[in-house]
This record gives sequence, C-alpha cells and structure tokens, in this order.
Amino acid sequence: MKNYSIALLPGDGIGVDVVREGKKVLDTVSALHGGFTLNYEEYDWSCEYYAKHGKMMPDDGLERLRNFDSIYLGAVGYPGVPDHVSLWGLLLPIRRQFEQYINLRPVKLLKGIQSPLAGKTPEDLDLIVIRENVEGEYSNIGGRMYEGTDMDMAIQNSVFTKKGVERVLRYAFDLSQAKGKKKHVTAATKSNGINHTMPFWDEYVHKINKEYPDVTSSIVHIDALAAFFVSKPETFDVVVASNLFGDILTDLGAAIVGGLGIAPSANINPEKRYPSMFEPVHGSAPDIAGKGIANPIAAIWCTSMMLEQLGEQDSAEAIMTAIEDVLQEKEILTPDLGGKSTTEEVGDYICKKLKNSLN
Ligand code: NAD
Ligand code: IPM
Ligand code: MN
Repeated sequence: MKNYSIALLPGDGIGVDVVREGKKVLDTVSALHGGFTLNYEEYDWSCEYYAKHGKMMPDDGLERLRNFDSIYLGAVGYPGVPDHVSLWGLLLPIRRQFEQYINLRPVKLLKGIQSPLAGKTPEDLDLIVIRENVEGEYSNIGGRMYEGTDMDMAIQNSVFTKKGVERVLRYAFDLSQAKGKKKHVTAATKSNGINHTMPFWDEYVHKINKEYPDVTSSIVHIDALAAFFVSKPETFDVVVASNLFGDILTDLGAAIVGGLGIAPSANINPEKRYPSMFEPVHGSAPDIAGKGIANPIAAIWCTSMMLEQLGEQDSAEAIMTAIEDVLQEKEILTPDLGGKSTTEEVGDYICKKLKNSLN
C-alpha cells in the first residue's frame, strides 16, 4: 500500500476553513480507493503565529517541510501584518527553496458554472496558464533610498535568467506538444515598454520554440492579452507568463470561469527533488473570514491536482466528477456562486457525491 505524507498549512483567514474541507475530501477518496493512505502533519504558521513569535514560521520551518510528498496550503496574509512581511516570511520562501518554478493554473469553465462572458461554454473556456514562479518581477533586489527627503525613492529589480526562462518555456512547449489541443503556446510579454527583461524573454520564446517544430507560438503584449482573455478566450490553449503577469492573468482567468472561489493552483517542482505545493489562487479573504461561507471548491480542486501529481489519477478524476456533479445540481453552493450554503455543507456534499460514485 502506498503512503503519502502531506504537510498541512492552513494559514490565515478562510485558508483554515477551505483546507479543512480539502482534507475531508482527501480522506474520503483515500478510504474509498483503498490503494493508498495519507499521513498529515499540520502546522499553524500564519499571521497569528507571527503575532506570538515575531516570525511566520520557525527558523527550521523549511527543513521540516522538505521530506513531505506534498504541501497543502490555504492562504497566507492578514491585516495586522504587512503583506510583504507575511508572504516573504512563508509562502514565497517555500516556492523558492523547493524550486517550485512552475505554477500551473487552469482556467477552465466547469460544467454547471455560468461564465460572466455571454454565451461562453466549457468548450470555449479551457486553457492553462503556466506562471514562472520563483524569479522575474518578484525579487528581493532593490531598496529604499533617501527616505524622509524630497528624493525619497524605491527601486525593485526584476531577475530573468537563462536557466529560469528556458525551463518554464520548455515546460510550456512540452505540455502543448504532449497534451495541447491547439499545439500553440501564447507567451505574455511587454517588450514594447520594458526594454531589458522582456526582449530577453521574447528572444528565448523564439529560441525554445525551435526545439518544438510541431508547436507554434505567439508573443502577445500582456495588456492586449488581458483584453483577449475577455473578448476571445477560446483562442488560447497553453499560456506562459512571467511571475507578475501570470499572477494578474490568473485572477482575471478566475473571474471569467466563475470567480476566485473555484480557481486552483499547483506550485510544481517538476524534478520531484522537493515537495510540490497545492493552494487555491485566492487569498485569505478577510472580508468573509470567520463567516463560514468561503467556497471550498478551489481548495478541493487543488486536492485533485495533488493526487494527479502523486500518480493517483483515478482519485483525482473522481474528485473533479464530484465537484462538477455538485455544481450542476446547484442545490448546495456558497454565496459567491449564488447559493446559501456554508463552506462545510459544500465540503460534505462533495464527499457524499464521492461516496455515491465510488461505492
Ligand atoms: P482574496 O483572494 O483573499 O480576496 C479577493 C476577493 O475574492 C474577496 O472579495 C474575497 O471575499 C473573494 N474570495 C476569495 N476567495 C474566496 C472563496 N474561496 N470563496 C468566496 N469568495 C472568495 O484577495 P485579497 O483580498 O487581495 O487578499 C487578502 C489577503 O490574502 C492579503 O493578505 C493577500 O496578500 C493574501 N493573499 C494570499 C494568497 C496566498 O496565500 N496564496 C493569495 C492571494 C492573496
Ligand atoms: C498568488 C498570490 C501571491 C503571489 C501573493 C500573495 C504573494 O497573489 O499566489 O497568486 O503573487 O504569488
Ligand atoms: Mn495572486
């Protein structure tokens, strides 16, 4: 019997509620499948932890996470701790230390969800954004100067390396070649205005594309691409973007397929040298935290991505089927999807569907 070890990092705000439901789904599917077991270790690292200890995780936090098969995270960040402190104290070091340089973010309209884009069907809205996850615009390089004077300024440098750019582009072209419906990769750029890093990025898109003669590519400025996500999303298949552009594009992507409550994300270390981390696209949602109404579907979809990455394809698919069943019935939904149910009721109902389908 296979055994997978999972580190649970519920984090802040609604992260705690949605991870609880995701764990319930994982337990249900593993019990029904019978071929694998899951062992969890839960860590309370969060802004609350910061209030007590002055740091987001213990000094050996990353060391403690290193040997897990997967990390399952809710959300990090809450009013009271500056966001750059909380995120650079927990989430971003995990992505970097464990070389999770691929951030997979499907933008897929599930059956039962009505897109806010008129007339769009699940066939029209089915693309995947591959976001570079460890370098780019998110860098520690820069600083504040002349504070308190008229020359007060802040500088933040972007870092684009041959290694970092080539590996994310190769991942995108590989994915398009193996599974793409259109065999076409769209790369987000801004080489008209950003005149060092973005022309560098574009140059590598052309170079890496030559390794894949059966895959075509286009380089589209991020501003236009954002508009095309709304006006003609059906023309995209695999979209590859730098860290910041991918971040923005995937909240937009979430909005066109039903909202942040259902958008999943996987931070992957493709070499499997370190654990990969699964977390919803959304944050800790302080505006609804503590109300018990957060949609757990994004976090539950993440458990499907986790099981897929662990090689448990059947269980991963069963979870997606259960989610789509629940969405199509429209009986038990959270308020963001027009329902009146609680986080817990949605989690329970998805577990019930799983039991019905797998028994
Ligand atoms: P957010 O994603 O937390 O919330 C944006 C909006 O979407 C809010 O109106 C919220 O209520 C709604 N929403 C989000 N998830 C939902 C869900 N599951 N169900 C129903 N509605 C949902 O973004 P924000 O407000 O910009 O950020 C809040 C905090 O979270 C900040 O501290 C931010 O830095 C952090 N954050 C963390 C992560 C992460 O840990 N991965 C991701 C994004 C933001
Ligand atoms: C996300 C989040 C994070 C990011 C923040 C909280 C640092 O927005 O996972 O999309 O920008 O990567
Ligand atoms: Mn984001």
